[in-house]
Amino acid sequence: MPSDEFLVTPWEVEGNVDYNKLTALFGTQPIDDAILARFKRLTGSIPLMLRRQVFFSHRDLNWILDRYEAGEKFVLYTGRGPSGHTHLGHLMPWIFTKYLQDAFHADLYFQMTDDEKFLQKDELSASATRGFSYDNALDLIALGFDPEKTRIFLDTEYARTLYPIALEVAKRVTFSAARAVFGFDSSTNIGMVFFTSMQSAPAFLPAILSGRNVPVLIPCAIDQDPHFRITRDVAPKMGYYKPALIHSRFFPSLLGLDKMSASIPETSIFTTDSPEEARTKIANAFTGGRTTAQEQRDLGGVPDICAVYQYSFYLFEQDDKRAVELREECLRGARACGECKNELADKVVQFLKHHQAAREQAQDRIEDFIIRDCQE
Ligand code: TRP
Repeated sequence: MPSDEFLVTPWEVEGNVDYNKLTALFGTQPIDDAILARFKRLTGSIPLMLRRQVFFSHRDLNWILDRYEAGEKFVLYTGRGPSGHTHLGHLMPWIFTKYLQDAFHADLYFQMTDDEKFLQKDELSASATRGFSYDNALDLIALGFDPEKTRIFLDTEYARTLYPIALEVAKRVTFSAARAVFGFDSSTNIGMVFFTSMQSAPAFLPAILSGRNVPVLIPCAIDQDPHFRITRDVAPKMGYYKPALIHSRFFPSLLGLDKMSASIPETSIFTTDSPEEARTKIANAFTGGRTTAQEQRDLGGVPDICAVYQYSFYLFEQDDKRAVELREECLRGARACGECKNELADKVVQFLKHHQAAREQAQDRIEDFIIRDCQE
């Protein structure tokens, strides 16, 4: 793929993603200063994920904030495709979702698409994707979601509730629409073709369970937008509000590719990694550094392509002033990559220690969060 090309679908992200082009291509709205000001006014602050443009695009966000200001609370919906352990890239939208839950006192439905990952991945059995659902739920709970306000479900275990809703969706989506949105071809298994209606279903769940229309906000990585274009198309036909969306960019890979691929362990730090594993991965990370120390001092580094810098910028350096300084020091050759790597590794290790302890405690609390309506 030429360096200025890219492809983004829910199952494949390739090339160098240009987020401005992607917004235009998908027809979403950029998150602008007016929206940031609105968050500040409504919640008292602008979280890092908005300040740093981790969440950079939306659909109908102003509408849902209008409803909120008119006294109509929204419900959050997000999810995870449980195909392996959780890595830091997965946590990014969840951390933001937690902020939304706290700031707007919102209930959250969290979908584990064990069906999707079983259908999509040849190598994964149904019991493997179910197992990863429970494993990944520990990471979610460890982030501190409110058990009174958070419901996690697996598609295969909440099917009695979801399936009738998915049928209503499926009946309104033609194969040709799904093929155009997802790029299916004649070798795609038929489960994948139906699956998008399972991902739409939770967007209508709050309305169905409460018997009245409820605004729903979906925080998700931008690659999930195609599913929700379908959801938004069918919503009025089913008599519901269209869900609003807020989209994140992808967390950078440690090896400098664009999306973290969970299939290459060196590209990501998993929440289950030991401190030594995390340090080694960071030590081997792709940077924007020059080949020699002399060149680094003379020419400066290139932070904008540097995985280590991006880790700090998107997640680990909370202080805005410091984040800018790091970039400037790098540009003028006043920083060596080793320094940045060590500083980041210390922060990541500290985070992992805290997270792994919380994850351990989550073991006993999982049933406070899970809902199911059927089981083997
Ligand atoms: N399909 C998503 C994935 O592969 C999981 C998912 C289900 C999801 N429902 C969602 C993600 C809603 C974001 C929002 O990761």
